Amino acid sequence: MHDTIAIRIDSALKTFGGRAYRWLAPKTGANGNGHVPPGAKVAVDHVSLDVKRGEIFGVLGPNGSGKSTLIRLIATLLIPDGGRVSVFDHDVTQEPRLVQTLINRVSVEASFFKKLSPMENLLYGARLYGVAPNEAKQRAKDILARLGLEAKAIYRPMEEMSRGMQQKVAIARAFLSQPSLLLLDEPTTGLDPRSKREVQAFVRDLRDSHGTTILLTTHDMVEADALCDRIAIIDGGKIVALDTPDGLKQLIPRNGHAPTLEEVFLELTGKQLVTEEQGE
Ligand SMILES: Nc1ncnc2c1ncn2[C@@H]1O[C@H](COP(=O)(O)OP(=O)(O)OP(=O)(O)O)[C@@H](O)[C@H]1O
Ligand SMILES: [Mg+2]
Repeated sequence: MHDTIAIRIDSALKTFGGRAYRWLAPKTGANGNGHVPPGAKVAVDHVSLDVKRGEIFGVLGPNGSGKSTLIRLIATLLIPDGGRVSVFDHDVTQEPRLVQTLINRVSVEASFFKKLSPMENLLYGARLYGVAPNEAKQRAKDILARLGLEAKAIYRPMEEMSRGMQQKVAIARAFLSQPSLLLLDEPTTGLDPRSKREVQAFVRDLRDSHGTTILLTTHDMVEADALCDRIAIIDGGKIVALDTPDGLKQLIPRNGHAPTLEEVFLELTGKQLVTEEQGE
């Protein structure tokens, strides 16, 4: 199950801002020339990683470390300034349309027709992906129920729903297109503990029963530890560690106890928590 490469990222570079002449620079490769203009912010700094088919792969990092930018590169929403990104062997810059048929993305700021119900939003979304309405309706009901959305809420306007409920609808909509690769940018941020568990179980089930590859970002270390097969920790746009949760825990010295993923994260991303104990 784990033999195909779902995502291949090879030295991906993404910068924002800087001098305007960047747009005039000749392109030397399919994905830009790898040039960093003066004054530019490097959001993704030569990141390389492979995600295998059927993996649940986590990207962790402090605020502003480049997680969402990386997801947007994979999702064909941004064009890399250097390096290559491919999804199931299709280059995101050269074959964006094809890549778009293989993926779906849930971002923290998912947008909906707020006057319409979850069901109407889902059916609209399914239609864009060519799913037949009857089939879509049944599947939408099943998915929303599995995500723990109350049956009566399915037909009420989205604007009456809490953020957590809207987040579940966003995940359901993304799954309705049956993507081979699902990109989840902070899928459980803002959810209560029960909803978090429902979303986590759903993600696991997607992988187990459909072989869906899932790349997700999260700030919840317990979630990452429990859900992800492998994790990349990024800081300042660069990968500082990439391993299984257990492999990551081997990276930091133990003070008589097994480190938590949070301790590993804090240690590897530096800045925070220089505690008294560390001086002893
Ligand atoms: N469209 C943009 N224009 C300019 N700068 C941007 C843009 N998008 C992201 N950035 C910058 O790129 C860097 C990485 O941002 P990104 O949103 O990828 O971080 P993140 O890891 O997802 O953070 P968070 O955990 O807060 O969601 C930040 O410095 C951000 O300000
Ligand atoms: Mg983000």
